[in-house]
Amino acid sequence: MRFIGTMREDIETVKRNDPAAQGALVIFLSYPGLHAKWMHAPERWLWRHRLRGPARILSQITRLVTGVEIHPAAKVGRRLFIDHAAGVVIGETASLGDDCVLYQGVTLGGTGRESGKRHPTLGDGVMVGAGAKVLGSIRIGSGAKIGSNSVVVKDVPDNSTVIGIPGRIVRRNGRRIARETLDERPGLMRATAPDEEEVLWNRRAIARACKRIEQLEKEVANLQEAVERLARTKTCTGAQSSERRGSQTGAVAADAPTARA
Ligand SMILES: CC(C)(COP(=O)(O)OP(=O)(O)OC[C@H]1O[C@@H](n2cnc3c(N)ncnc32)[C@H](O)[C@@H]1OP(=O)(O)O)[C@@H](O)C(=O)NCCC(=O)NCCS
Repeated sequence: MRFIGTMREDIETVKRNDPAAQGALVIFLSYPGLHAKWMHAPERWLWRHRLRGPARILSQITRLVTGVEIHPAAKVGRRLFIDHAAGVVIGETASLGDDCVLYQGVTLGGTGRESGKRHPTLGDGVMVGAGAKVLGSIRIGSGAKIGSNSVVVKDVPDNSTVIGIPGRIVRRNGRRIARETLDERPGLMRATAPDEEEVLWNRRAIARACKRIEQLEKEVANLQEAVERLARTKTCTGAQSSERRGSQTGAVAADAPTARA
């Protein structure tokens, strides 16, 4: 009875999320994402009752039929909607909140370097775009949107939109963010090297800074020369005037005895 309720809820979810959705019966019969989700319930039951072989076999049959591979141990929230449902992989230790939407080609996988908990945890209402890869034991905050074809390997805060490789935040709480990589905010770290555009921008900024430093060095050199010239001129003028003063004093001294005489 509870399962029928879940199915109804899932069909309503499809109607809400897919503008192309038709009647309930068509949805029931033609959405492999729903079939994969519904099959996940008995698979998980088998897994939890230590019938891991049958659970895996059943999940592989589901994959064969639907194109969606949800590991029997993965935790899936209510009203999960997997649209187009081709090539979707949800790993063993992945955990999804309620109302998540995944498109075709999404991988919620491991990086290959971790053991134990090695797949992502998605909050409620997370959308993962077509072809996006979310890798590792990371947390994708509630209400986050992962752009299609992004690769995300670090935590994403709530209500953020992430795009690109590596994933960078372009919107947070509805506000556009100029250029933010996942390691430019406290508590967030970037996964890999900056992208090409960023490297180019940095190169240009460094070139501009070098040119300015050269200009300033030239100006400093000119100023130094001017100061030295000024100092030299002052010294010469000083010497000449003291010479002049000296000769005048000599003349007066020479005249003095004559005057006295
Ligand atoms: C990311 C996404 C959710 C849009 O989120 P948003 O918060 O509304 O962001 P915006 O549309 O304002 O885009 C912000 C910037 O990211 C860029 N962008 C959007 N999606 C992108 C993507 N997948 N990859 C790279 N850049 C992307 C936009 O061009 C824009 O760039 P700009 O600032 O230079 O103008 C959406 O573009 C997306 O990828 N949805 C996935 C849907 C999907 O997979 N559908 C498949 C149906 S079959």
